[in-house]
Formats: sequence, structure tokens, C-alpha cells
Amino acid sequence: MPVSDIVLIAAVAENGVIGRGNALPWRLKSDMQRFRALTMGKPVIMGRKTYLSIGKPLSGRTTIVVSRDRAFAAPGIVVAPSLEAALAAARGDALRRNSDAIMVAGGAEIYAQAMPLATQLAITQVHKRVDGDAYFPAIDATTWHESARDERAAAAEDEAAFAWVAYQRRINDKKETSRVV
Ligand SMILES: NC(=O)c1ccc[n+]([C@@H]2O[C@H](COP(=O)([O-])OP(=O)(O)OC[C@H]3O[C@@H](n4cnc5c(N)ncnc54)[C@H](OP(=O)(O)O)[C@@H]3O)[C@@H](O)[C@H]2O)c1
Repeated sequence: MPVSDIVLIAAVAENGVIGRGNALPWRLKSDMQRFRALTMGKPVIMGRKTYLSIGKPLSGRTTIVVSRDRAFAAPGIVVAPSLEAALAAARGDALRRNSDAIMVAGGAEIYAQAMPLATQLAITQVHKRVDGDAYFPAIDATTWHESARDERAAAAEDEAAFAWVAYQRRINDKKETSRVV
């Protein structure tokens, strides 16, 4: 199966916040379960700070960590020196796994760089405003089309209500993924 999609997966507050103090600023158990389901069996790219906030490789997925630190290494992860190198490693891994998507799991620096290359966004809109220091890029309606929305009440161990929202890059959008991968 050819790799066709680069998917940014993120939980985003109403004011764009995704993190505070290198951690998630909420507890949303339902969304953690969804993250696991959507990424399982796929290559997952993340920045070094996000990796350190998680603290371990993601089970059942290839964890590709982007860092400029040539000495950075940890058991069970692939370290890439650039986003381009991470995408190349992810593409090879996706082909081996027969996966049709590369998942990009943040944080703010990585989302900002990967947004122009993404074909889909898997966004959890957290229905809450929170203080934070890491933000998701603006989702430009001329580039992105909302293709699905699933509103959810807060379940047990969810701090807020939220919506799972899928966006597809508009087919007439000029930005293409081919310049890197
Ligand atoms: N809500 C969500 O869905 C979600 C998801 C993920 C993360 N987060 C949050 O986001 C925050 C972390 O985001 P962040 O922006 O601070 O950090 P980040 O994007 O996770 O990691 C930044 C690091 O990635 C490396 N990097 C970035 N661009 C690179 C490039 N082009 N080439 C090589 N290395 C590159 C650098 O590592 P070196 O310094 O080692 O060179 C940089 O310091 C945390 O609060 C986290 O909890 C939230």
C-alpha cells in the first residue's frame, strides 16, 4: 500500500494552546485512547521535547524523534536530524508496515514545520480555554476543509467536552507534499 497521507494529530484548546511546561495542560483519557487507535501500526514523528514529555517509545508504532543533537539517542526510537530525514525514515517504515499514513504528533515546533506538508489534520478540539506556552498553527479555511466532526461529552477521566474533527487539504491548494517526500 503506498504511503498517501501525512497526518498531523493534535489536541487543541479553544485558544490554540496544546501544551504548558512541556506537558499536556489537561487530562482527556478518551483522547489518549483515540490517539493510540489512530497511530497504532504507523510511524509517528515527534520533536525531542514531546518525546521527553512522553518519556518512552510508543508501543506498536515506530517512534521517530527529530533532534539536532547528534548525541541524542534512546532505546526503541529512531532519531532523525531534520524533519525531512524523519519523513524519509517514516516513509520507509510505512512501506514496511503496509501503512498508508505517516502520523505527526507534535509539538508546536514540529506542527509548524509539518503543516505545509500535511494532507490531513486529526484535531481534537478541546472545549476549554487554558493557559499555555505551546500552540497549534492556525488552520486556514482556504487550505483546509472540515470533512468530519464528532462532538463528545466529557466521559470519566476527561476534563472537558471535546470534538474530534478531521480536515482534508483542499485539492486546489497549491502547497504540495512532493517537495520533501
Ligand atoms: N496537545 C497535543 O496534542 C500535543 C502534542 C504534542 C506535544 N504537545 C505539547 O507541545 C509541547 C512541546 O512542543 P515544543 O514546540 O516545545 O517542542 P517539540 O516540537 O516537541 O520539540 C522541539 C525540538 O524538536 C527538535 N526540532 C525541531 N525542529 C527540528 C528540525 N527542523 N530539525 C531537527 N530537530 C528539530 C529540536 O530538538 P533539539 O533541541 O534536540 O535539537 C527542538 O528543540 C509540550 O507542552 C507538549 O506537551 C501537545
